[in-house]
Amino acid sequence: MQQQLSELVRLAAQEIANCHTLNELANVKAKFLGKKSELTQLYAKIKDLPAEERPAFGQSLNQAKVQIEEKLSAQETALKQSSWQKGKDSSSDLTMPGFIPAMGGLHPLTIVQREIEDIFLSMGYEIAEGFDIEDEFHNFDALNTPQDHPSRNLADTFYLKDGNLLRTQTSTVQVRVMENYPPPIRIISPGRCYRNDKPDASHSPVFHQIEGLVVDDGITLADLRDSLVSFARIMFGENVRTRIRPHFFPFTEPSAEMDMSCVMCGGSGCRVCKQSGWLEIAGAGMVDPNVFDMLNIDSEKYTGFAFGMGIDRITMLRYNIPDLRILFENDLRVLCQFR
Ligand code: PHE
Repeated sequence: MQQQLSELVRLAAQEIANCHTLNELANVKAKFLGKKSELTQLYAKIKDLPAEERPAFGQSLNQAKVQIEEKLSAQETALKQSSWQKGKDSSSDLTMPGFIPAMGGLHPLTIVQREIEDIFLSMGYEIAEGFDIEDEFHNFDALNTPQDHPSRNLADTFYLKDGNLLRTQTSTVQVRVMENYPPPIRIISPGRCYRNDKPDASHSPVFHQIEGLVVDDGITLADLRDSLVSFARIMFGENVRTRIRPHFFPFTEPSAEMDMSCVMCGGSGCRVCKQSGWLEIAGAGMVDPNVFDMLNIDSEKYTGFAFGMGIDRITMLRYNIPDLRILFENDLRVLCQFR
């Protein structure tokens, strides 16, 4: 009996060692441990033995079974390892095309925002963050905006039930920075703004601005011009021409708008620049002394300038996107082109 069992274990070990695939190994396992195997049949015979012989017989069978199981699992590990290394496992075909995972990418607005940030960072500006939900003080009052100014109107501004509002401009961050930090100040602040506009090709109730603010001893309009012209040249190329026109904002005096020669037609006139040859890219001006006074900055000692630009507009120009709404629809067929 013992001899029959050791012969069985020897035979199983030999066949297990000869297995080259996991399939072959499964067959050998069935042959030596399965329902119809010699070993299983021997187990069935226990009940026919005299009671005193049963324990020893059962023990011998168990030992043989454990020995075969150990050989099987050692061989399985070895086969899995070698098929992993050599790719010889019958279940994987290395000539099949691989699985290509879907890759994410940056949204065009993010790409352009970072490009703008990099340009101003290289000029020594720092990035300041503001809040999307603001109060009237930071969005209007501290920016010298009269109580009856049309932009305060419900038709233009989204007010919240608690009396706060969704900021209509990133100029709120000027106020937050001047409240909290003494000059010298040199910051930009990108972010979302909200206005009660009906969506069309050039309007969206949510849009993006980037604000700039510089406050120090002896800052002049020439410094403002220098920052904006340098920015336009780095962003759109050395050949871009710029011009500054007088304008009005409640919180800057004097105020201006900056135009640059149309990047689509080079200034000869096209659909994008409405045949004028010029594109408006920034609102700007010297910080109104009233704003300094409200924020306890000494307007006798300090001067400063501020500017605001539309990131959406610059993105549309950069990538020749004809409709603002495309930037907010998140259509994968569009976004995949920016990977
Ligand atoms: N906040 C102004 C706007 O939204 C732009 C601006 C910013 C103008 C800073 C002057 C200075 O139109």
